[in-house]
Amino acid sequence: MTDSPPSSDALEGQGESQVDAWSTSPVPSVSGDAPPVGSPAAASPMSDGALVGPSQEPAADPVLDQPASAPAVGADRADADPMEGPVTSTRVRPPLPRIIAVANQKGGVGKTTTAVNLGACLADLGYRTLVVDLDPQGNASTGLGINIRSLQASMYDVILNDVPIADCVEASSVRNLFVAPASLDLAGAEIELVPAFSRELRLKQALAEVRDDYDYVLIDCPPSLGLLTINGMAAATEVLVPIQCEYYALEGLGQLLRNVGLVQKNLNPTLDVSTIVLVMYDARTKLAAQVVDEVRKHFGEKVCHQVIPRSVRLSEAPSFGQPIITFDPRSRGALAYRLLGKEVAGDAEA
Ligand SMILES: Nc1ncnc2c1ncn2[C@@H]1O[C@H](COP(=O)(O)OP(=O)(O)OP(=O)(O)O)[C@@H](O)[C@H]1O
Ligand SMILES: [Mg+2]
Repeated sequence: MTDSPPSSDALEGQGESQVDAWSTSPVPSVSGDAPPVGSPAAASPMSDGALVGPSQEPAADPVLDQPASAPAVGADRADADPMEGPVTSTRVRPPLPRIIAVANQKGGVGKTTTAVNLGACLADLGYRTLVVDLDPQGNASTGLGINIRSLQASMYDVILNDVPIADCVEASSVRNLFVAPASLDLAGAEIELVPAFSRELRLKQALAEVRDDYDYVLIDCPPSLGLLTINGMAAATEVLVPIQCEYYALEGLGQLLRNVGLVQKNLNPTLDVSTIVLVMYDARTKLAAQVVDEVRKHFGEKVCHQVIPRSVRLSEAPSFGQPIITFDPRSRGALAYRLLGKEVAGDAEA
């Protein structure tokens, strides 16, 4: 075991350093908050040993789902605990409707959990919210109680067969929260779309018809940078990137940002990587606090103050087809996503 930094090859996975990846234009909406290219700070996340190796394992003491009031170890800023959330929201209330693509091509980083639970919290705040499931795995749909085996219409039909999205939208158990479900056949869409006319803009065209029906549309993208994710980004006004507070958390982020840049350049000039959410924060590890620090250093105000804890209850909720705010309203995960909802919406704390 060693504390020395992992090689940049290992981190980027493509023989390219993370620093180069982050510095590569065009990613104007992101680089605005990042340190200047070539500055010492810009070189920090991978080159200064910030992401330490696996020697820093969680302590043996299991504190998963500790009470919300419990202090977290390793605060991300001198003056704030990453688990506390904002005292008051620092974000201005953006104009509605907002269409937010939840994207990160890394698998299992909390995209669906964030789309479902942030969606539920925004709906609970009174915003009419639609979760669009763009992932053939259909996890956002099942996580909101939809049986994806008995769908009359799904996002496959919307993307491939020009079925109006309103025809596939289903209500969820949460007031104001709706879902446009996906089923397994959406997996074929990546290939079937290739020869299709305006293949990157299918979702954008579909959402144009319901734009005035919702305050928030959250698009749960699949773990790839293929045509479905491109459709999500082309249709969105913003991108929200969940980042796991774990080893290798930043792997592939450069590629994601480059793709956002390509979508900006070619399809959606006003697309903005507006929001970075740190998820699966484990207060027992120094590593989690270090990842929080590094991500904040690079992305500044784009990173939400509210951090989502690693919580067993959050991982259990989908199998009951419920978001955390109905499954276990008093859990730490529910509280964290509620605060995140307020922060993202720019609603001042009550
Ligand atoms: N904060 C959390 N605490 C504990 N478990 C979590 C948390 N967030 C997500 N999980 C669990 O981690 C797994 C991956 O999460 P999720 O499905 O949201 O990731 P994803 O990025 O959508 O994955 P994929 O790339 O496969 O679509 C799931 O089992 C989920 O229940
Ligand atoms: Mg998912």
